[in-house]
Amino acid sequence: MKKAIYPGSFDPIHNGHLDVIERASGLCDTVVVAVARNLSKNGLFSTEERVEMIKKTTSHLKGVEVTSFEGLLVDFFAEQNAQAVIRGIRAISDFEYEFQMALVNRNLSDTFETIFLMPSQEHIYLSSRIVKEVARFGGELAAFVPELTATSLRKKLAE
Ligand code: PNS
Repeated sequence: MKKAIYPGSFDPIHNGHLDVIERASGLCDTVVVAVARNLSKNGLFSTEERVEMIKKTTSHLKGVEVTSFEGLLVDFFAEQNAQAVIRGIRAISDFEYEFQMALVNRNLSDTFETIFLMPSQEHIYLSSRIVKEVARFGGELAAFVPELTATSLRKKLAE
């Protein structure tokens, strides 16, 4: 596949996201990791901080671009001239939300395709919310996030 978009909140990027990006980059010439600006307002990190963190943690991967988008994903998808949107699916609990989102997007645009990728088992339980909670209470982050995310989390929570 030529180009796929991997959209999300990424507040912050964790090893499950990285796993999906690595899998997607093996399947596509270009993977555009896209931070949703609309959802960034109430997050821990600003959109710019998220983009920067993703850029640095994916710099070893060929064909990965990182950016942000505002508004509807279908509009960004059309603008980017991409073939598909990638979403990571971890457990059955993700399915209902992902199914709803994929169908709404297809309803908004007939050319919209969603591809679901499963991260490896060791990352299946990870979420940015859980990672932030562990960080807030001073827990060890090494198994959950790249070193750069761990450092940024500690710094941000100390502010
Ligand atoms: O990491 P997340 O929070 O599960 O990502 C959700 C995201 C950003 C992919 C989704 O909320 C999104 O596409 N937002 C853009 C607005 C939009 O297009 N909404 C309609 C589709 S549900």
